[in-house]
Amino acid sequence: MSKAMYPGSFDPVTNGHLDIIRRASETFDELVVGVLNNKQKSPLFSVEERVKILKEATKDIPNITVVSFSGLMADYAKENGITVSVKGLRCSADFDAELVQSQYNHLLSAGHLETVCFFTRPEYSFISSSGVREVATFGGDLTPYVPDFVAELVHEKYKNKK
Ligand code: PNS
Repeated sequence: MSKAMYPGSFDPVTNGHLDIIRRASETFDELVVGVLNNKQKSPLFSVEERVKILKEATKDIPNITVVSFSGLMADYAKENGITVSVKGLRCSADFDAELVQSQYNHLLSAGHLETVCFFTRPEYSFISSSGVREVATFGGDLTPYVPDFVAELVHEKYKNKK
């Protein structure tokens, strides 16, 4: 029984994230999507909103749960029987960052947490949550990058900020 976790900020979730979620859900028996509750950042969406959005976006995938977590992922994984950390790689900068994180996680978990990386599909290789937020700041069309309902929610956030 393989239980994996895909951790991230998902602020907001993108079509690239959703592609990794779908592929990981087909690879592992159970997939936990973990939304980091990082109190040092001021996100566009609260952690509760991000969890709700991810639940809606993944509602057709049966073997998924969406949770929020704070602190070390290695600790959350140990407490919840998770043995795999899923990451998506778009470019060499992602590789460099994920290599370092996987090494921390290997030590922090005493070797119990393995990192498995999925390479991006080319059509998602340039998409990032920060890029989506940047386009939204100037009122640009978000529909190529996120599900339609997420595009509406992001635009609403920026309207309310004005
Ligand atoms: O979507 P992001 O912001 O790139 O995701 C980063 C995330 C949440 C995967 C990473 O920051 C994380 O796992 N944070 C929890 C703290 C932790 O366990 N760090 C690993 C050791 S440096």
